[in-house]
Amino acid sequence: QVLMTDLTMDTGVQELLVKAEQETIETAFQRAKEQEPHCKFGLTGVCCRRCLQGPCRVTFNGNKGVKRGVCGATADQIVARNLLSLIVEGTTPHVEHAREILHTLLETAEGKAPYEIKGKEKLIAIGKQLGLMVDGVELDKLAREVALIALQDFQQQSGVSHWLRLRAQEQSVETWEKLNILPSNAHLEIANAINKTAMGCESDPVSLLLAIMKMGLVEGYDGLHLSTDLQDILFGTPRLVKTQYRMGVIKEDYVNIAVHGHIPMVSEKILEWSRKLNNKAQALGAQGINIVGICCSANELLMRQGVAVATNYASQELAIITGALEAMVVDAQCIMPGLAQVAECYHTELISTLPNIKIEGASHVDWTPEAADQMGEEIVRRALAHYPERDQSKVRIPGDTVEAYAGFSVEQIVELLAALNGPDPLLPLIEAIAQGDILGVVAIVGCTNPKVKQDWANTEVAKELMRNNVLVVATGCSAHSLGKNGLLSPAGLQYCGEKLASVLTAIGQANGLPALPPALHMGSCVDNSRIDDLLVALATRMGVAVRELPVAGSSPENHSPKALSIGTFFIAQGVDVHIGVNAPITGSPLVEQALTANKGEFSVTTDELFGGKLIYEADPIQAAQTMIVRIMQKRQALGLVC
Ligand code: SF4
Ligand code: FE2
Repeated sequence: QVLMTDLTMDTGVQELLVKAEQETIETAFQRAKEQEPHCKFGLTGVCCRRCLQGPCRVTFNGNKGVKRGVCGATADQIVARNLLSLIVEGTTPHVEHAREILHTLLETAEGKAPYEIKGKEKLIAIGKQLGLMVDGVELDKLAREVALIALQDFQQQSGVSHWLRLRAQEQSVETWEKLNILPSNAHLEIANAINKTAMGCESDPVSLLLAIMKMGLVEGYDGLHLSTDLQDILFGTPRLVKTQYRMGVIKEDYVNIAVHGHIPMVSEKILEWSRKLNNKAQALGAQGINIVGICCSANELLMRQGVAVATNYASQELAIITGALEAMVVDAQCIMPGLAQVAECYHTELISTLPNIKIEGASHVDWTPEAADQMGEEIVRRALAHYPERDQSKVRIPGDTVEAYAGFSVEQIVELLAALNGPDPLLPLIEAIAQGDILGVVAIVGCTNPKVKQDWANTEVAKELMRNNVLVVATGCSAHSLGKNGLLSPAGLQYCGEKLASVLTAIGQANGLPALPPALHMGSCVDNSRIDDLLVALATRMGVAVRELPVAGSSPENHSPKALSIGTFFIAQGVDVHIGVNAPITGSPLVEQALTANKGEFSVTTDELFGGKLIYEADPIQAAQTMIVRIMQKRQALGLVC
């Protein structure tokens, strides 16, 4: 008998899982159990399906079983090729995301798309950094020029990615140049990587590992950074906002629309049209239209608009099981196909929006930059039309909500610090780190995964770090885990060590707040770029390389290949990255050792080449302690108080 309390920490989700069971509706939580025990060949990465001589399975523990596939491929070769494939699958959705925002910005600048440029300061700053003339230039013209430079990162056949040049620290670029892994054009690099992994192409595991690191840079610059920068230009840079978390943000007496996925061009338009058509809801006897977020669509609207968050990845189906959603609007990434079966049991319309991403069983309203308004209006009108169809006997919304703060862009963090030191805002933070009041900084990022009790590992890692005076920043669905459990609110200060609590209180009070929350919510998964920007700014101000900083990244409940490609990006920067669900690499001693620097005789490791490594640890307390040991080593090397 599986207990709901073993599946998730979220009491609202537990309540809805009981409802799902009563109504015989299947969810990811049950399906995850049905998959156990998992195939060891798959788990360790030694299953190859690259050609029709196979599939081949080779030994995953080095002794039992066959040593080579039909073509002669070894475990090291198979694992390295599979990992490169996985990293490409993590990178590509972010590169597509960046390409879509790029075209939206370009069409907006040319007057063809119904968006406006709200991030004037960001546009001017980026224009300047790209070497463009900005003084007296019209915003539209400047935006067009910026978009066209970004477009070169998808077209040029040689040269280095413009966004890498724009955002990377010079010391890192030197390392990557020596290793010959500087990317040029995101599409070209993705095609190259797929070509490498094709049957009968590359089989040198070391060369494949370098291709993996190069793909990490594609992810970082022409995925994450490009997406965040252009989104800030179009929608504005996030500022401090206050909001609510948990299923209770779905309101019984409102027309409820959930936005789910990642693409703010879709969710911003839904929000805009919900405001325009709000009075139509009142005509139906509802109080109004209520937009709630799931996954990173939630993060985008939360960061810029303060929209409330219903839930995160693993429990997305449960939002429909409240019986109170008129529509769930999805775009790309992390959309469970299982949503369609759940929606069928209610009046909820599941609506896909991206021309390239259709969902079986969902209806579809096409988003394109030009047709964004038609999409927004059509979807909100459909949701309104479904409100009278709601079956009140099936409605059950778990009541509680939790207060949270978000909107911690680098610009916002610097502004908050400026209240302590206007001319040199980063200095108070650097001094706190140097004195050991802040031991280090760890980013808690990524997903939830039904293999792990939902929100538990994310929250436990965070609390253990806070207790040890480590400053936590967060993004993605992990940030939602922290939000649901009170760690994005000043009330969460109770979990911090005394020194960290006093720093957060001092910064907060200098800005008219009781304190800053113990975890700073920096945005969506693409906004891991903001964390990178913060690291580059800190390292540059301290006069050191990013790889020397006492920092780490952690994805305690990772499920998506995106978590691995983002992790690869940070390892390439020289930052250790912890994962709580292992990557399929343990079938290859060579690949495992190269990434984790843990054991064996293999001589080349990412730790030596880049200064960062992969840490696998399922136990959250142990994971936090392992990161702290590394932070202490880096502090010692910098001569900081230990
Ligand atoms: Fe087997 Fe080689 Fe084909 Fe992979 S590429 S399935 S190892 S024969
Ligand atoms: Fe995400």
